[in-house]
Amino acid sequence: MRNLTETNLTDAVLAKLEGAADPRFAQIMTSLIKHLHAFVREVELTEAEWLKGIQFLTATGQKCDDKRQEFILLSDTLGVSMLVDAINHRKPSGATESTVLGPFYVSGGKELPFGSNIAEGVPGEPTYFSGRVLSTRGKPIAGAMLDLWSTDGEGAYDVQLGDGNTLRARGKIRTDTEGRYAFWTIKPVGYPIPTDGPVGKMLLNMGRHPYRPAHTHMIVSAPGHEPVTTHLFVEGDQYLESDAVFGVKDSLVEKFVRHEPGIAPDGRRMDRPFYTVQYDFGLVPA
Ligand code: BEZ
Ligand code: FE
Repeated sequence: MRNLTETNLTDAVLAKLEGAADPRFAQIMTSLIKHLHAFVREVELTEAEWLKGIQFLTATGQKCDDKRQEFILLSDTLGVSMLVDAINHRKPSGATESTVLGPFYVSGGKELPFGSNIAEGVPGEPTYFSGRVLSTRGKPIAGAMLDLWSTDGEGAYDVQLGDGNTLRARGKIRTDTEGRYAFWTIKPVGYPIPTDGPVGKMLLNMGRHPYRPAHTHMIVSAPGHEPVTTHLFVEGDQYLESDAVFGVKDSLVEKFVRHEPGIAPDGRRMDRPFYTVQYDFGLVPA
């Protein structure tokens, strides 16, 4: 293993995996090394470019802390997160499609009664979500859980505001005995993913905008079924065709119907305009 050259260096590195105890680890590393070396050869990477790449990855790591995950943002914006999602969640028909979790999920959202407002006091336009959770075999699922979160009506997540006011526009709602759910929140708006780090600079250099189309996040789960991590998107949003993280699927784009002040579907009297959206979730039996 001396005098290695441009031609035989890759094989020499791959041979070093012979002692790896875990065959899956060896498979992943073999492929990674092959593709990495092929990339360097294809673009004939200069030393200055190699150093720039190292500095970029260093800055990405340095931007991470317990609230910020710049590597996940990098994966999201390069389409890797959605590719991993697609490979791991090949769904049968009738199943709600999955999309990215994103960095703003916080576990520990409070369970609230059926029909509650999960965004009490949060700026934004009131919106009533309702529908059912069904098994892909067609049966309504009683006691399914919707774990919900979204930005406020100005496009900010509670964790980004840094005012300690977390668990705002977040909550959990359980389906009733007929598999129905209902809750109030605010109508989501489009917003930019964080751009104050190396990923933001990368997007700028690529000539890309950082916006996501308006969406409400949810993880829907029920005993005996595969949980689904997904969003509902607002039909007509200007960023549906150019989501910064490639997460939009037609089946998740819904009409948010505007209503003038009056009586809402749950009998509530609304003194300002409000929206309604209906969607039935389909879960795959485990
Ligand atoms: C989100 O929808 O919360 C999100 C997803 C990926 C990157 C940034 C934000
Ligand atoms: Fe989001």
